[in-house]
Amino acid sequence: MFGAENKPATREQKDKGNSHMRRERIKIDLLIHDLKVPLAVIEAGLTSMMKRQEKYGPITEKQERVFKRALRNTKVLKNLVGDALELGRSGEGIVFFSDFPLADLIEETLVEILDLTDTTMSEKLKKCENLDHFKKTLEEKGVILSIDEALWEQQICQDETKIKQILRNLLNNALKYRKSRVELGIDCREDLVIFSVKDDGAGIPTAYHKKIFDCYFQLDASSTCSVRGHGLGLAGVMVLVEDLGGEMLLDSDEGQGAKFLVKIPLKTNK
Ligand SMILES: Nc1ncnc2c1ncn2[C@@H]1O[C@H](COP(=O)(O)OP(=O)(O)OP(=O)(O)O)[C@@H](O)[C@H]1O
Ligand SMILES: [Mg+2]
Repeated sequence: MFGAENKPATREQKDKGNSHMRRERIKIDLLIHDLKVPLAVIEAGLTSMMKRQEKYGPITEKQERVFKRALRNTKVLKNLVGDALELGRSGEGIVFFSDFPLADLIEETLVEILDLTDTTMSEKLKKCENLDHFKKTLEEKGVILSIDEALWEQQICQDETKIKQILRNLLNNALKYRKSRVELGIDCREDLVIFSVKDDGAGIPTAYHKKIFDCYFQLDASSTCSVRGHGLGLAGVMVLVEDLGGEMLLDSDEGQGAKFLVKIPLKTNK
């Protein structure tokens, strides 16, 4: 309404705004970062009480269960802190490439997820000696892993932390929204690694295929079903995929389950 207020921002004003936003972001990141120390102290304390009973005194079986649960949850918190920092780093467009075996990536991601929801299964997965055994164990949980032996053994060069975070979010969603089955497929073509995460749940109507990538958007957020979340996972995954120069495709419709396809270019670490 008043001319002066409607004038487009000058370059100087824009720079000032950006610098303010950057400073705010740094402060939030620092806060998240500083959670790491008290968390490490809690974790070390619990571990010592469990593992050094000659020093701290014996614990009962019941107490051990409580310690284990508390420890598992410090792990959850550590992951959350790591994820939050990783997103901040993504905002800066920073990526860290390294060579790592696909087998480790898949194993660690699935164990991490199941550690929170099904510790017996995560323990079983850790003990698997080969791909076949790993696949069969996962099937008990309704998870079908599709990857060939040669690829399982292969090393790829990419940002491992970010890929783990992408997979963790997509798999968590698939496990949360499925009826009974989740399929994880991994394929490599030329200089691309392709992950597909598919479930047999209620699916996502086409009209919402864009919306679900918005922060805080949830289909049927008012529903009283037991599924909880914040509507942040997919928005974060999109930022990470873009940061890695990849693309994400969604194939889904109402009543037909959902399939997320993530294509990420591979690097040569030379
Ligand atoms: N596999 C899926 N099947 C059906 N709907 C899905 C699926 N994945 C995501 N959605 C829908 O998209 C919304 C956004 O997903 P997103 O992962 O961002 O959030 P969330 O899982 O609800 O919570 P958060 O990931 O923050 O814990 C979900 O609330 C859900 O409505
Ligand atoms: Mg989610």
